Amino acid sequence: MGETLIKDYGSKGRKGYSLPKLDVEENEIGKYIKNDYIREEDAALPEVSEVDVVRHYTSLSEMNYGVDSGIYPLGSCTMKYNPKINENIARIERLTKLHPYQPEDQVQGSLEMMYVLKKHLCEISGMDALTLQPCSGAHGELTGLMIIDQYFKDKGEKRNKVIVPDSAHGTNPASATMNGFEVIEIESNERGMVDLDNLKEVIDDDVAALMLTNPNTLGIFEKDILAIAEIVHEAGGLLYYDGANMNAVMGYVRPGDMNFDVLHFNLHKTFSTPHGGGGPGSGPVGVKEFLAPYLPVPVLEKEEDSYYWDYDRPKSLGKVQAFYGNYNVILKAYSYITALGAEGLKATTENAVLNANYLKHMLKGEYELPYEENSFHEFVLSGSKQKEKGVATLNIAKRLLDYGQYAPTIYFPLVVKEALMIEPTETENVSTLDRFIETLLNISREIKEDPELVKHAPYNTEVRMLDEAQAARKPDLRW
Ligand SMILES: Cc1ncc(COP(=O)(O)O)c(C=O)c1O
Repeated sequence: MGETLIKDYGSKGRKGYSLPKLDVEENEIGKYIKNDYIREEDAALPEVSEVDVVRHYTSLSEMNYGVDSGIYPLGSCTMKYNPKINENIARIERLTKLHPYQPEDQVQGSLEMMYVLKKHLCEISGMDALTLQPCSGAHGELTGLMIIDQYFKDKGEKRNKVIVPDSAHGTNPASATMNGFEVIEIESNERGMVDLDNLKEVIDDDVAALMLTNPNTLGIFEKDILAIAEIVHEAGGLLYYDGANMNAVMGYVRPGDMNFDVLHFNLHKTFSTPHGGGGPGSGPVGVKEFLAPYLPVPVLEKEEDSYYWDYDRPKSLGKVQAFYGNYNVILKAYSYITALGAEGLKATTENAVLNANYLKHMLKGEYELPYEENSFHEFVLSGSKQKEKGVATLNIAKRLLDYGQYAPTIYFPLVVKEALMIEPTETENVSTLDRFIETLLNISREIKEDPELVKHAPYNTEVRMLDEAQAARKPDLRW
């Protein structure tokens, strides 16, 4: 393995600091701390110079791959480049040092920022009211479904089912189950969309909601969305919008206008926080007016020129997070939206859709395209032709790493065999896209000529092919 351990860089007495001579009286530590707590020997810490430390960590960081290194086309994840200015803003000390217990009159600027962001998100989504509390997409789903549950309980209706299409992100059925709903899965049709007949078959007055993302996880826009909404609403159910794919429609279509009742955003995907690695995230939940009373407390309100937290909401489902939301992610989203403005957000959508369609067009001859429908911000190919040569989609993904590029999402959505789900995002330029296309075409050529080569990839990475099940169950984290 490539990099030397930091302890092996060092040698006894080597230092990475130089301090001025002590100009106060030296004291024995034993005067202040009980002997039981004092080490008998020095801790075995690495003794290294500054340059050792810098080289060690730089070398480790170079083994990693991130959005700052190159294309990261993980479908459904929107791993886009986020402008550094937004990171700088989120690190302004006067903002990072705020305390959530500070009185409202001391933090009016911050409250105004959150209030304006709420308004922007309502405008973008076509919703009437919104909470910034939830801290991830999945947390938003949980909150949204709790709101739906609370609403039906309040109406005295017992509805215990949630419908989820088979192409849905795994968090959708998981959130419904967590909320105590029974999940009813419906099969997509041959065009990759919700099948109206299937929907009509399962809809009844036990159904609380249908969860849908539009465009769906195949990157296909559900053209029948108004008919879908009508079927669900006629049966008394509600429509939940998974807003993770918002960068495909922002500025063009609003979930509220598609007749969705509740939605969550993934601020960390669409609005300038790097996604992945477990956080930080933010999943604001927007609702139509009739659901506003059920939003979590406190609700941020404005009276004349001042902002305050309203706790007096008798129908609220309560709190879903310790304070008011993931403040620094919220700040980045505010900064991103303010900088781009309405036209900029529309351009974001256009580029996300254009990039995905360009890649699809260039790759579909070599890799199977299971759904011919127009794509939005992402699309799904299948590696089944390559599988016939004995090379699995997993091997294609690993081979991409050899070429210094990141792999798309694989084996998801489950409805496509040997799936390669590609989301280039709006931030990649045409040269980067061309390089990615060339690499995937090259890998397909390699598979025809020498499948064994691709089967044993990667060759150039720090670690070769891992037994992924073992790596997850028994991670080797020791030295
Ligand atoms: C379509 C979809 N829904 C929901 C989620 C869940 O979001 P989070 O990872 O923030 O919990 C994701 C995550 O990528 C997603 O792609």
